[in-house]
Amino acid sequence: MADDAALSNLSYEERVFPPTPEFARQANAQPSIYAQADADRLAFWEEQARHLTWAEPWSQVLDWSQAPFAKWFVGGRLNVAYNCVDRHVEDGFGDQVALQFEGEQGDRRDVTYRELQDEVCQAANALTELGVAAGDRVAIYLPMIPEAIVAMLACARIGAPHSVVFAGFSAEALRSRIDDATAKLVITADGQNRRGSAMPLKPAVDEAVADCPSVENVLVVRRTGGDVEWTDKDVWWHDIVGRQSTQHTPEAFDSEHPLFILYTSGTTGKPKGILHTSGGYLTQVSSTHRNVHDLKPDTDVFWCTADIGWVTGHSYIVYGPLANRATQVVYEGTPDTPGKDRWWDIIERHRVTILYTAPTAIRTFMKWGDEYPQGKDLSSLRLLGSVGEPINPEAWMWYRDVIGGNRCPIVDTWWQTETGGMMIAPLPGVTGCKPGSAMGPLPGVGAAIVDDHGTPVGHGSGGYLVLTEPWPAMLRGIWGDPQRYIDTYWSRWPQYYFAGDGAKWDTDGAIWLLGRVDDVMNIAGHRISTTEVESALVSHPKVAEAAVVGANDDTTGQGIVAFVILRGGVPAEEAEGDAIVTELRNHVAHEIGPIAKPRQIMVVPELPKTRSGKIMRRLLRDVAENRALGDATTLADPAVMSLIAEGLKSGADDD
Ligand code: WT7
Repeated sequence: MADDAALSNLSYEERVFPPTPEFARQANAQPSIYAQADADRLAFWEEQARHLTWAEPWSQVLDWSQAPFAKWFVGGRLNVAYNCVDRHVEDGFGDQVALQFEGEQGDRRDVTYRELQDEVCQAANALTELGVAAGDRVAIYLPMIPEAIVAMLACARIGAPHSVVFAGFSAEALRSRIDDATAKLVITADGQNRRGSAMPLKPAVDEAVADCPSVENVLVVRRTGGDVEWTDKDVWWHDIVGRQSTQHTPEAFDSEHPLFILYTSGTTGKPKGILHTSGGYLTQVSSTHRNVHDLKPDTDVFWCTADIGWVTGHSYIVYGPLANRATQVVYEGTPDTPGKDRWWDIIERHRVTILYTAPTAIRTFMKWGDEYPQGKDLSSLRLLGSVGEPINPEAWMWYRDVIGGNRCPIVDTWWQTETGGMMIAPLPGVTGCKPGSAMGPLPGVGAAIVDDHGTPVGHGSGGYLVLTEPWPAMLRGIWGDPQRYIDTYWSRWPQYYFAGDGAKWDTDGAIWLLGRVDDVMNIAGHRISTTEVESALVSHPKVAEAAVVGANDDTTGQGIVAFVILRGGVPAEEAEGDAIVTELRNHVAHEIGPIAKPRQIMVVPELPKTRSGKIMRRLLRDVAENRALGDATTLADPAVMSLIAEGLKSGADDD
C-alpha cells in the first residue's frame, strides 16, 4: 500500500492546538453534537435537513434497501436554487451581498441575493427557451465569474443536471465529458483572464462540439471581448438571458432528483461521471459548512479559493455557502497577478474572515516568502481551512503562524468528489487540532481503517480508509455505469465504501491521511490517473509504450513523471533530443489539459516488468524520486533498471 515516503510523515506529532475559549463559546457546533449524532445518526441528519426549506416533507430518512444505491429523505421535495437564493430574499436579506466578485484585472462587482435571484430566474427562463427541460444535461465550461454560479443555479432551478468541466481542461477532455453525459447545451465564455492576458475558451468548445451531436446550442458569456468564431448553434448570454423575465417559479423536485454530474479520474483511462442528487447533498454540504467552517451569515466573509470545475467549488462555493446565506469572495484569476500578494490583498480589502484553500497553494506561498502576506492586514481572518491532499505539519504551522496570526483554528477537511461533502475534519470550536491531521469523522459519519482482510485496525495502526455508513451527500452512482460504481467502491469489502486512500490512527485516535493507494495521482489537489496520462502518451504516433508515476513534489504534493519507449522508426538523434520531450508534454496538455503535463518525461529503452507483464511502478517511483532501488527480484529482466538509469533524459519544466 502507501509507500515509505507517505509513511514518513507519521512521526508522532505532539503539538495540539485546542480552540480558544472565545472561539469555543461562539462556535456553531458544540461538543454535544457528537453524542447527539452517536445516539441517533439518522435523527441527526434529519435535524440537519430541517435547516433547508422543503416543499414536501420526507417520509423516510434513508432507504438503503438497494445498497449501495442510497435514497435520502425519501418522498421529500425541494428546489435547490430556491434554497440557495430565493428564501433568503423572502426572509428579508435581498440586499445582502452574496458574491463579492473580483476579476483578475481588478474589475469588481458585488451581487446581492436579490440580484442573484433575478439573474438566476432570467437564466432559468433562457434555458427553458433553448429547450432545456428537467432531466436534460447541461455542460458548463466557464471561468470563475458570477455567470458560472448563476448558470449552475439556473440548471438546478429547472432540474437540469449540470456537468461542470474545469475550464483548464482541453477540448478533447471536454468532448468526452459532453459525449458521456449526452449534454444538450454547453455554457461557456469567449475567454478568461489568466496571468494578465485573455485566454480564449470558445475555440476549445467549437472543437469539442463539432463531434458532439447531442449539443443543440452553445450559450456564450462575453468575458474578455474581441473576435470569436460563431456557429449557428451559438447564442450570446447577454442577448438571450438579458431579455428574460426576472420572474420564474421554482418547481419542487424529488429529493433524489439528479443535481449534477462531475467527472473525476479513476484508475482507468475513462473518467467517471460522479452523480449527485438534491436533498441529501444540500443537507450535508450546508451542514458541514455551518459546523466546520462555522459560518455566521450576518458577519462573515467567506472565501473558498477553489474553482467551480472541482467538487470543492460545487460544495463550498455554490451549494453549501449559498444555502447558508453566506457573503463570499469569488476571484477569477491566478495568485501571482499582478503580484505575489494578490490573495492577501483580496483578504485585506474584502475583510475575509474564513479562508478555505489547498495545501499546494499554502506551500507555494511559503516558498514565495513571508513578506507578501506580512505586507497586508490579515487580522480579519478567524478560521482557516485546508482541503485536497494531506497537509504536511510544516505547511500547517506556517499557515497558522503567518496567515492565521496564531489565532485561527485550522480545519483540515478530508473528503472526495464521491463523498460530496466533508467527512473527516475537526470541529473548530471543539477539537484540539494536530498539525497535519484531519482528526476524526464528523458527526453522523462512520469511518474505519481496515487491513487487507477488511478487519478494522486499532489506534497506532494503519491501513485503508473506509466509510462504514451511508451518508446524505454520497454519490448515487457513476453516470451510465452502475456496475463500475459497485466494482470501484463496494467490491473490495462489500460492507464498506472503499475510498482509495491509506490512513493511520495515531495512538491518541487521530486520523492521518497517507495519500492514494491506487493508481490515482494527486497533483496540486487534483486527481489524475496514471492510466489517463499513459493513454494520452501512447496516443502520440511516436510513442510505443508509457508508464506514469506520481513522484513526491515539494509544492504540488505529487508531480507526474513519465517513462516512455519510442517507436522503432524514431531516429536516434530525435529520441535523444529535448524536442521530443516538449512535444510529448504538449501532447498530453492537448489531450487532457495543462494540469496533466508531466513534470518530467524520461525516454527509456525498456520498462521494468514482472514476468506476468505488469509494470513495476514502485521501481519507477524510486527512479523518479532519486532513491536507491527497492526490491527488484521479481523483474523479468534484471538488467532493465540499469538500462533505464543510463538512458535518463528529463524534460524541462517550463510552466
Ligand atoms: C482525494 C479526493 C475533496 C475535494 C478536493 C479533492 C485527497 C482530499 C484531503 C485531506 C488528505 C485529502 C484524498 C482523496 N484528499 N482532501 N484533507 N487530507 N487527503 O477531491 O479530486 O475527489 O480527490 O483527495 O486522496 O481521496 P477529489
